[in-house]
Amino acid sequence: MPIEQTEVQAKIMQVLDTITEEWDDDLDEEVTLTSKLVEDVGFASIDFVQFAVAIESEFKQKLGFQALLMQDGAYVDDLSLQQVVDFVFTRLNADPVAEAPVPNAAPKESNVQRIESVEDPVTAEMVEEFRKIIRPCAPHSVPSKKNKPAVFILSPPRSGSTLLRIMLAGCPELFVPPELHLLSYVDMKERLAALDDEHNRHLLEGTIRALMQLKNWSGEEARKFSKACEENGMSCQAFYNILQIAAGDRLLVDKTPTYAVNLDILKNAENDFENAKYIHLQRHPCGTIRSYEESKLTRMMPLMKDSEFSSRALAEMTWLTCHQNTLKFAEQVPSDRILAVQYENLVKQPEVEMRRICEFLGVEFNPEMLNPYKDQDQRMTDGVDVASKMSGDLKFHLHQNIDPAAADRWRQFYSEEILGDVTKDVAKRCGYDI
Ligand code: A3P
Repeated sequence: MPIEQTEVQAKIMQVLDTITEEWDDDLDEEVTLTSKLVEDVGFASIDFVQFAVAIESEFKQKLGFQALLMQDGAYVDDLSLQQVVDFVFTRLNADPVAEAPVPNAAPKESNVQRIESVEDPVTAEMVEEFRKIIRPCAPHSVPSKKNKPAVFILSPPRSGSTLLRIMLAGCPELFVPPELHLLSYVDMKERLAALDDEHNRHLLEGTIRALMQLKNWSGEEARKFSKACEENGMSCQAFYNILQIAAGDRLLVDKTPTYAVNLDILKNAENDFENAKYIHLQRHPCGTIRSYEESKLTRMMPLMKDSEFSSRALAEMTWLTCHQNTLKFAEQVPSDRILAVQYENLVKQPEVEMRRICEFLGVEFNPEMLNPYKDQDQRMTDGVDVASKMSGDLKFHLHQNIDPAAADRWRQFYSEEILGDVTKDVAKRCGYDI
């Protein structure tokens, strides 16, 4: 039965209320249909995504928000609530959804100017400064017994790691939960102390979601168990072991983009696991920088928010540091245990890349790996309590399939000339033709 516009409107208002309720600041003015989400409500781009995901969850349907939020390759500057209501109303009443038109063409990002060069390209000295703000990681003590093999996806944030994780989760021989954030800490108590704040609390959820899936527990049961592990100061290696035992014959894959930022964290994997395998996920630095800026990642990282570097330079140095560390780490690991994968190839020729990864991991290729939007529960693309809180890239939810156009979108915005020489060198070592 077709849904009425007034019902759509009421539900969307309700979703918006729930989202803004969680914010610290009260809204100055009452929100109406003419309110602009950025100008009046105070949205950042990440909030658009959270709003879109929560609306899809409310209507229990994928609506293809990418079409509304992205115009001519750029994310829109702002949208009124009315535009969102019209879009959802049209999509809900259209059949099939994928072919529905986009109502009320959203305002386009004004006169996108490709940036050809910058005045402050990243230098080796800047990178040295940047490395000082990275949280140190204590080495794990040598365990009496190593855990069985596991797989780690090593990449900076914004490399397509969430997409890769969810594709891998389509293989029945693998267990691929959302970001675990375990390897960086000695024990669960230290992990809690490091992540339990308003910016990072959602990063504690991946382990809870994994326990729910493995043990068939409710969120409450999984939280209770985690709390006991934290109170007892259980080592992170022992916690991994619990997950691995519960996963049975399935190989555990941990994709946590913060690991690669510190070489000491990577060394913990060799210390704690027997013959761990590593997927070195790469993406062109300009694509990563553009993605990083659009997602306003620095807003969620207080140390970086207060930094004097521009958000572009921070993004480039995060990219650089993660790849420098991973390349160095690769020199210390037998070559049959580390595989380089490029995001661009993953989205342009997914089957070829998935078959290559399966061969490397020693598992059988399954065609379901090419359908990342199927079996959402089994792939753990939701959060513990709310669909919008999956730890990982929320933009995954805006796409409806593996999108090859995402690989080169950055070319509209940046020339490779913006990159520092040190970045260009590392990009060339990763195989990019710069
Ligand atoms: P953009 O911001 O350039 O769009 P990560 O998960 O490592 O943070 O990476 C996020 C990037 O992966 C985002 O890049 C996001 O759009 C992209 N991505 C997520 N799902 C995708 C899909 N189905 N197809 C292509 N790219 C996808």
